[in-house]
Amino acid sequence: MGSGIAQVAAQNEHETILVDVSQETLNKAEDDLNKILNRLVEKDRISADDKINIQGRITYTTDMADFKGCSLIIEAIVEKLEVKHQVFSKMENIVSAECILASNTSSLSIASIGSALKNPDRILGIHFFNPAPLMPLVEIIPAVQTSEKTLKTAKDLIDSWGKSTVVCKDTPGFIVNRVARPFYGEALRIYEEGIADFVTIDWAMTELGGFRMGPFTLMDYIGNDVNYAVTESVFAAFYYDPRFKPSFTQRRHSEAGYLGRKSGRGYFNYAEGATQPEPNKDPILGKKILDRILAMLINEAFDAVFMQVASPEDIDKAMTKGVNYPKGLLAWADEIGLEKVFNQLDSLFQEYGEDRYRPNPLLRRRVNL
Ligand SMILES: NC(=O)c1ccc[n+]([C@@H]2O[C@H](COP(=O)([O-])OP(=O)(O)OC[C@H]3O[C@@H](n4cnc5c(N)ncnc54)[C@H](O)[C@@H]3O)[C@@H](O)[C@H]2O)c1
Repeated sequence: MGSGIAQVAAQNEHETILVDVSQETLNKAEDDLNKILNRLVEKDRISADDKINIQGRITYTTDMADFKGCSLIIEAIVEKLEVKHQVFSKMENIVSAECILASNTSSLSIASIGSALKNPDRILGIHFFNPAPLMPLVEIIPAVQTSEKTLKTAKDLIDSWGKSTVVCKDTPGFIVNRVARPFYGEALRIYEEGIADFVTIDWAMTELGGFRMGPFTLMDYIGNDVNYAVTESVFAAFYYDPRFKPSFTQRRHSEAGYLGRKSGRGYFNYAEGATQPEPNKDPILGKKILDRILAMLINEAFDAVFMQVASPEDIDKAMTKGVNYPKGLLAWADEIGLEKVFNQLDSLFQEYGEDRYRPNPLLRRRVNL
């Protein structure tokens, strides 16, 4: 992740220093970047001179002291709070008082990372999506300690890199990793109830819903271990709100080593010559699956608005630019009709009696207007 962010900074004409504890990792990052830049030259996306200039702007080093003259540092190291604390307090002693210190963390709070600093008003989250050079979305997360000046300077800079920024509260999963949870969680629940199999759920979401990838294909891409860990951490961080409850199916797949594409098998079999299952293309079943997952996604988007995590515009922007949803969820809700979405959720809530399906108060309020 760090090398992708370094590429973006260097392509935007910044002198960039890539630091890692491992020289081997740095060598690999340099090799990988050279391959990427060669491909960009072949495709005429950049000139041969651009390539040389970009390469010339990046210094690879294991010595953090080289950060001395930097005005911004984006930390993208291992996701462990104690390691981040050590690194942030060391960085603070190297850089000037004006240098902004950002974290690319996906699951830790920015406030907790900033607590390691003597001057924490310069901390904020700058959360890229993988691969950073290709994905347009960047979530900008001010912590309770962040100054207005830090937020404005960082946001203006990332905007100037041509990225689509959204500002969000320092809450678990920020926007995308919170609002997207039901895409996986409700799909798994539908499977566990025996309503449909993996391939049929994926078919409903792609063919009828227009999503680029079905939830099970996407989980196989992300890795079941990684996706399960995010689900568990969001669930715990939300004080075990049942809306975010992880699934045994995913846990068992992860435990069995069915991690997805990277292990050759996940929900689907990626071995050469393996036969792929056929979906049940029953349009009534497909619509039932799509309507249920979509209603849960919309409910989550409403909750993010209700809890002031971000503006409605930024929530729709985040889901279209960060995870390529075919439409913003709030705009989609308007298109379907809020009453219809509310009734869908309310009937699930009545049927199951589970808090997981409670319609968000803001949605209820809008329907009752
Ligand atoms: N992988 C993703 O899709 C993704 C997306 C968004 C955000 N993030 C976040 O980015 C960060 C990095 O994730 P990743 O997947 O690239 O992890 P990774 O494990 O692939 O890379 C982490 C790197 O940090 C280095 N490192 C560890 N301790 C260090 C230290 N003390 N000083 C300097 N370097 C050190 C390691 O050598 C390694 O190269 C995490 O905070 C993660 O939450 C990851």
